[in-house]
Amino acid sequence: MKNKFYCTTAIDYPNGKPHIGHAYEKIVTDAYNRWYKLFGHETYFLTGTDENGQKLIESAKAAGKDTLQYVDENVEIFKELCTRANISNDDFIRTTEKRHEQACVELWKNLEEKNLIYHGSYAGDYCLSCEAFYTETQAPDGICPEHHKPLERKEEEGYFFKLSEYQDWIIKYLEDNPTFVTPKAKYNEILSRLKGDDLRDLAISRPTQGWGVKVPGNDKFVMYTWFDALINYYSALSPEQKNLWPADLHVVGKDILWFHSVIWPCMLKASELPLPKQVYVHGMVLAEDGKKMSKSLGNAIDPFDMLDKYPTDTFRYYMLRNISANSDGRFSEEELISKHNTELGNDYGNLLMRIIKLARKVLPDTTLDSKGVTQDFKVEEYLFESKKFMENREHHKAIDKIWELVNFLNQYINDKEPWKFKNDPEAFKAIAYNCIYGIGVATILLKPFIPDVTEKAFSYLGTLMDIDSLLQFEGHKFNLENPDALFPKIEA
Ligand code: MSP
Repeated sequence: MKNKFYCTTAIDYPNGKPHIGHAYEKIVTDAYNRWYKLFGHETYFLTGTDENGQKLIESAKAAGKDTLQYVDENVEIFKELCTRANISNDDFIRTTEKRHEQACVELWKNLEEKNLIYHGSYAGDYCLSCEAFYTETQAPDGICPEHHKPLERKEEEGYFFKLSEYQDWIIKYLEDNPTFVTPKAKYNEILSRLKGDDLRDLAISRPTQGWGVKVPGNDKFVMYTWFDALINYYSALSPEQKNLWPADLHVVGKDILWFHSVIWPCMLKASELPLPKQVYVHGMVLAEDGKKMSKSLGNAIDPFDMLDKYPTDTFRYYMLRNISANSDGRFSEEELISKHNTELGNDYGNLLMRIIKLARKVLPDTTLDSKGVTQDFKVEEYLFESKKFMENREHHKAIDKIWELVNFLNQYINDKEPWKFKNDPEAFKAIAYNCIYGIGVATILLKPFIPDVTEKAFSYLGTLMDIDSLLQFEGHKFNLENPDALFPKIEA
């Protein structure tokens, strides 16, 4: 399938309500999905929930609920988050669905037929929160490096996937495909870990507790939750949609990079399925004090609180611009308010409002066209550079670039002083058209990040401008509507 763009988020554990990290990952992926759609790609965006883990059983028990009822209730809240944050996902997969179970069983049988699964016993140190084993090199003191809790010794029999057979292959694959994992620092980290540590076979089953995807042919076991979870990216696609595979972009947090850049590619290679094009690793959203957010520290920020208090686009913009695409970033409500008032409100919103209001006063009617107007500045740079940044998975830099255009337009108006040309309609029109055309360009490029407000902005600009006509200076028509403030000021 030509020109398709299939992107995914990690699927979240619904063992509680969604937190700000979940919101962040969905917003980031949403911006990429919308960006590629804007540029004419046939996009498909998948998100969902990872429901088969042992920790779901524990959390439901702690809440005094039946596991399925508990999970069902929480999943609804994850779906609500998608709606509230204006996430444009095409599908939402739950790993307790039949379609998922079927695909997992098929893949398992396929690997078994190829002699890549065997029965054996294992012992290791396990973290229930990660649902993962840690080696001595990874956790020499027996403490989970992610959750800082003591690991639990587990000795069980079960099934193994012959992951160790793929060590040389995955190293070579990564070396041949240097953008498979981005950013570079994460790519290097994985490659050096692969070169420094022997890949061990992966335990892919757990004794059943009546919850999870049953191992075909042996109902004493369920599949290890990570083994089944990764398959979601493929299982979500119906037979008719399989031409979307391989995924173009998996967006994940750094804590789960190993699973996506080593285990998942090896599972696919073993199944003779094409590999995803890229795994993009974003940083963590940290609390205002720069620490990891946690309920026990009382520094967690609830995304629903933020969405109740602030416009969705302000929340999205703040997360996308302020938190670097490639490293961890602090979430500060104070900064969010300041970005809303200064950048969104003053730089962009007021610019649009000022020039439209003035033009509606000065022009003989509320329409504006390019007849007799010469182009004062070029916009190619903003389009090409922001596109390059998005392709490099540096969305914050793409927004910076678009903002350079917004700042330039403010400067342009200040220098040209169009209000001085109220009695010279020709001169006024030239400035107004140049400026409004520039605002149109910025608005189109901002669409993936702040979809609601840009739609409103377009209704005020009254134009059919789109990505294909963006670089064309002449020929646009604007039917200027009386605008309201796009970002009414928020009092701190
Ligand atoms: N269920 C697994 C993923 C399976 S994918 C086949 C899981 N779930 S999770 O709920 O713990 O995390 C889901 C995603 O949220 C992960 O990509 C994780 O890195 C991300 N985040 C969790 N906390 C985060 C922040 N504080 N900040 C940004 N992203 C964070 O892992």
